[in-house]
Amino acid sequence: MSETSLPFNDRVFPGKALKEEWEKSIKKPQEFWAEKAKAIDWFRTWDKVLDDSNPPFYKWFKGGVLNISYNALDRHLETPRKNALAYIWEGENGEVRTFTYYQLYREVNKLAKVFKNVGLKKGDRVAVYLPMIPELPITLLATARLGGVHMVVFSGFSAEALADRINDCEAKILVTSDGAYRRGKIVTLKDTADRALAATPTVEKVVVVKRTGQTVPMKEGRDVYYHDALAKVEANAFVPPEPMEATEPLFILYTSGTTGKPKGVQHGVGGYLVWGYWTLKWGFNPNDKDIWWCTADVGWITGHTYNVYAPLAMGITSLIFEGTPDYPAQDRWWEIIERHGVTILYTTPTAIRMFRKFGEEWINKHDISSLRLLGTVGEPINPEAWKWYYRVIGKEKLAIIDTWWQTETGGFMIAPLPGIELVPLKPGSATNPLPSIQAEVYDEKGQPTPTGTKGFLVIKTPWPGMMETLWKDPERYKQTYFGRWPNIYYTGDYAVKDPDGYFWLLGRADEVLKVAGHRIGTVELESALVSHPSVSEAAVMGKEDPVKGEVPVAFVTLRNGFSPSEELRADLIKHIRNTIGPIATPDAIIIVNKLPKTRSGKIMRRLLKAVLVGAALGDVSTLEDEASVEDIKATYEELKRQLEKK
Ligand code: PRX
Repeated sequence: MSETSLPFNDRVFPGKALKEEWEKSIKKPQEFWAEKAKAIDWFRTWDKVLDDSNPPFYKWFKGGVLNISYNALDRHLETPRKNALAYIWEGENGEVRTFTYYQLYREVNKLAKVFKNVGLKKGDRVAVYLPMIPELPITLLATARLGGVHMVVFSGFSAEALADRINDCEAKILVTSDGAYRRGKIVTLKDTADRALAATPTVEKVVVVKRTGQTVPMKEGRDVYYHDALAKVEANAFVPPEPMEATEPLFILYTSGTTGKPKGVQHGVGGYLVWGYWTLKWGFNPNDKDIWWCTADVGWITGHTYNVYAPLAMGITSLIFEGTPDYPAQDRWWEIIERHGVTILYTTPTAIRMFRKFGEEWINKHDISSLRLLGTVGEPINPEAWKWYYRVIGKEKLAIIDTWWQTETGGFMIAPLPGIELVPLKPGSATNPLPSIQAEVYDEKGQPTPTGTKGFLVIKTPWPGMMETLWKDPERYKQTYFGRWPNIYYTGDYAVKDPDGYFWLLGRADEVLKVAGHRIGTVELESALVSHPSVSEAAVMGKEDPVKGEVPVAFVTLRNGFSPSEELRADLIKHIRNTIGPIATPDAIIIVNKLPKTRSGKIMRRLLKAVLVGAALGDVSTLEDEASVEDIKATYEELKRQLEKK
């Protein structure tokens, strides 16, 4: 675990200021956050910074009243930021649209007026199923302006996934588009939305953004085109920002967990915004000369916090991009950085590993010297990828901000913080917890592990950005996150602390996969597979992948009357794409005669994993669990033989 000696020595300190800030936040959390919350405009100041009288249902800035769209837009209108760019958007087809803060404000007000005219009220849910186009953040802001609750579904999810989420939160409005561009081809998003809408009785209105321009079916009385609806409201429409209690919900974002049903993570307005603002400031310290590019789609939490709310609340300029990194060529990103003068790039280890595979020549074709800071998120970054990022993109001059966090945490939790003080970096470590974050590594019994020993990452005290609950399921919230150790937030991640106190994140400790940074529950995939008429049982696990980090591999057994074939495998893959979405596509489907099980009927995953990665079975005593060692060994050999035959 060697330190990188960064050449910008004047910016490398021993960590004194960071330690002081962290200690202040721990010793006097109320005072600390009361001070920080002044960066936000409140209609009414809170009565209490943190109400912890009913753990784990913490209430931050209780009694405070604000509106997040006011903080993102209106408040900049009295400053020189009014005519500065909020967004530079680049479409996959090279089209560029820009929005100043004032222009964005106008557009958001017009859409809010449309929503208001169709009866959207405070607390109503708005489902959003859009590609990465400016109308996506605009929809979020317009919803929040009225006090509505948005629920974004990533545009790569299937009709079934969309319908499930809409039904769970009972959305009243759906905002979608006629289509989306993917690698020069048109994806018919509206068709997918229509398939979902056939099973979503709560949706009363569908607003359709014209992106690709093909004719799509529009249902009389329900569907309206975005541009038609906006053209009908006054150009200077103004909708007063709804005063919101800090603890009222801002959005729901579904994320995968260890059971089949995705969890509706609910974030509130006040704590979430304060946390988003300060984490971005501490982590990247963007200023008004920066062009901030967070490459995440707004369909995920990273896009919510760092493409919408935090950068807009700070008044900085963000770049948003619709396309994929290698279309039309493998230098698309570097070309964008050069053309727009991007100064901060925040992306994923998967993207970095992919560029590394493409080769340095694609990068060296471009002048990317505008970059001043680099970041990464979503999955553990292996030291080789870190070093490559540092050398080839950062030209051995730029710090790498590896940010560990989750949908549930609202914003960064463990990361280097040049906005306070940049500590020496170590390739592959996200370094230290942020102010207010008391992170620890526990063993099975809930005791801190000795330095250098792997365990479960936990957070011991509340922080402003934390989720409020799971949508309409407080019991599941309590059980999932605070059930293992009372009042201790269980992250579901493995970690280890090194002798310098640096945290190294080691991936998920539960049945959740991180495929190209996307969170996918193995149980979700298994349920999708067994819903196919041919499948009797399924067990899904992650297999290491040089680019995507890990990929899902499925072991399945078939029902009587079905036999293995290439067609069947293809059909099962199609079925997964239709039930969850293309991001969940298994790398392989291995059809076996029988799955290894304990006598109590539990699938022996470790055995399957050993077969999959070609590892020796090793110590089977802990695996045994009622099954005989002989049986396990025999099954292992049999599965290996079946796999070799493929
Ligand atoms: O396993 C951790 C991994 O991503 C999980 C959270 O996924 P999601 O809710 O989709 O949010 C992703 C974007 C914040 C975590 O439990 N993870 C995220 N960032 C890192 C990471 N693992 C290692 N290093 C990171 N920087």
